[in-house]
Amino acid sequence: MIDKRLFRLPGIKQLFTMLAGLTVLQAFVILLQATFLSRALVNSWEQKPLNTIYIPTLLFFVSFLIRHTLTLLKHRYLHTKAQQITDDLRSSLLDKIYTTGPKMIGKRGTGNLVTTALDGMDEAENYINLVVEKMINMMIIPLVLLVYIYFQDVKSGITLTILVPLIILFMIILGYAAQDKANRQYAKYTILSNHFLDSLRGLPTLKMLGLSEKYSDNIYKTSEDYRRSTISTLRVAILSTFALDWITTLSIAILAVFLGLGLINGTITLYPALLALILAPEYFLPLRDFSNDYHATLDGKNAMNNLLDILSIEENESNDLLPDISWEINSTVKVQNLNFNYSDSHADADIKNASFELHGFDKVGIIGASGSGKTTLINLLGGFLTADEPQDIQVNDHDIPNFAQKNWQKMFSYIPQNPYLFSGTIKDNICFYKPEATDEEVQTAIKAANLDEFIDSLNDGLETKVGEGGRGISGGQAQRIMIARAMLDQDRKIILLDEPTAHLDIETEYRLKETFNKAFVDHLVVFATHRLHWINEMDYILVVKDGEIIEQGTPKELTKNKGYFVELVESMRGDKL
Ligand SMILES: Nc1ncnc2c1ncn2[C@@H]1O[C@H](COP(=O)(O)OP(=O)(O)OP(=O)(O)O)[C@@H](O)[C@H]1O
Ligand SMILES: [Mg+2]
Repeated sequence: MIDKRLFRLPGIKQLFTMLAGLTVLQAFVILLQATFLSRALVNSWEQKPLNTIYIPTLLFFVSFLIRHTLTLLKHRYLHTKAQQITDDLRSSLLDKIYTTGPKMIGKRGTGNLVTTALDGMDEAENYINLVVEKMINMMIIPLVLLVYIYFQDVKSGITLTILVPLIILFMIILGYAAQDKANRQYAKYTILSNHFLDSLRGLPTLKMLGLSEKYSDNIYKTSEDYRRSTISTLRVAILSTFALDWITTLSIAILAVFLGLGLINGTITLYPALLALILAPEYFLPLRDFSNDYHATLDGKNAMNNLLDILSIEENESNDLLPDISWEINSTVKVQNLNFNYSDSHADADIKNASFELHGFDKVGIIGASGSGKTTLINLLGGFLTADEPQDIQVNDHDIPNFAQKNWQKMFSYIPQNPYLFSGTIKDNICFYKPEATDEEVQTAIKAANLDEFIDSLNDGLETKVGEGGRGISGGQAQRIMIARAMLDQDRKIILLDEPTAHLDIETEYRLKETFNKAFVDHLVVFATHRLHWINEMDYILVVKDGEIIEQGTPKELTKNKGYFVELVESMRGDKL
């Protein structure tokens, strides 16, 4: 019913202990409240002196006040704690997204991660708020009341004990039905959020193809699907709440009938009978509360589970296995039989037994046909993807299981196929790896990236806003911002590039080539490309086919071998590049 991982969250044990303490106190106050009320009623029925009536009445009100003050205290404490716990969860989630990177985003979908980090957090907080308190109430209050009722009247105790398993059984059956519906609803919600984000991203393309109107039907259908499953979940939830209320009311009525018969037959006196009757609704109340809110928070439960699932990904993997080194001319990376498989891949291996070495400030090209595994290899080198098994990798003779190591990632700049500009100024984007850079350093980097002319033409210069809601930037300009970013941090001696020019026209690419070549000096460069003219700039080439490095060597050696490389070059010549 409740995910065990919830109990492992930091701070939750303290929360449980504190709430449990307050709840035990509250259970005793409920007992006092019922005793004083019964005492006052019985004494007035028996026409006892006035002070034996109003003193218990007064005490009843005092207990009533204490009881509700305790509830208030519990709520206050719970709210503060729940907020603290979800704040912690939110930062762990963001950390997790950063450390697991594209692997997780690919698996879970960006839309899903966005909703988990935003709405999902509120739902999870709501879940802690509602469920934790009700669960503790349900575990403690009925038990304390029952023990007391047994002491007062064994028969009432037995009746109440028998009724509870029936109610719990009923709750479980309805709970499963509702859970099933809620799971389906949550799955639809995930589809909806991913679908929405994808559609939003694809909107320019859809408009261009004149399909945006047609696509709106598609969006309508997905959201209609979600609406329908929400309504059906609500139907089960409301029905089960109603049924549960009905059953508990009936149970109290059954007890009242037994007590009434007992009173008529003289087998029970008025005081214990009244006490049992007053305590009976209190006895069922936590159960009802729990199951009512249980249905109401199924969404929160799913959000929490999703969150805990994400947080439990690769918990044991350490990213701290490489000492803090710097990349020098004599540095090396040795990779032996690297294997990698995407989790949903149909191929037996997406990267098969890749063995290669990277030395000093070499320029290493990765070439291969589309889908051969160039991006996968670059992503493995960047540590954005990691194999499940530890691999045979050495950086300067230090063994590491994968490249997702803090001190490795600190050493390289990465220029992706589609440069992504973060929302902010051009300067923010350039200083991404090195926020503390001086103006002078930024200017040097801009010049080196041939970006100065473009920036001078802007009214706000470096302070021009780009990215979401900012100025549009062309692919070539964005590419140059990426290069300036790589040039700025001269401490990063490795540059990983994944077809950075694939979407540029030939003229822009040639103009950029000079910039790139300048940036490449005194750097280790790993450059995935299918544009042949880059081959002349490379010292060493890895030729990839179907996830295997089938040939490697200097361009001269490869040409001499007349193997797959030559075949590939010939077939690519059709590209005119
Ligand atoms: N996220 C993913 N999940 C499952 N399979 C994937 C994923 N990304 C890529 N693949 C598969 O892995 C193989 C290698 O893909 P990769 O993107 O590395 O090729 P590439 O050489 O970079 O191709 P291109 O030149 O088109 O960019 C392909 O068969 C592809 O379908
Ligand atoms: Mg690729």
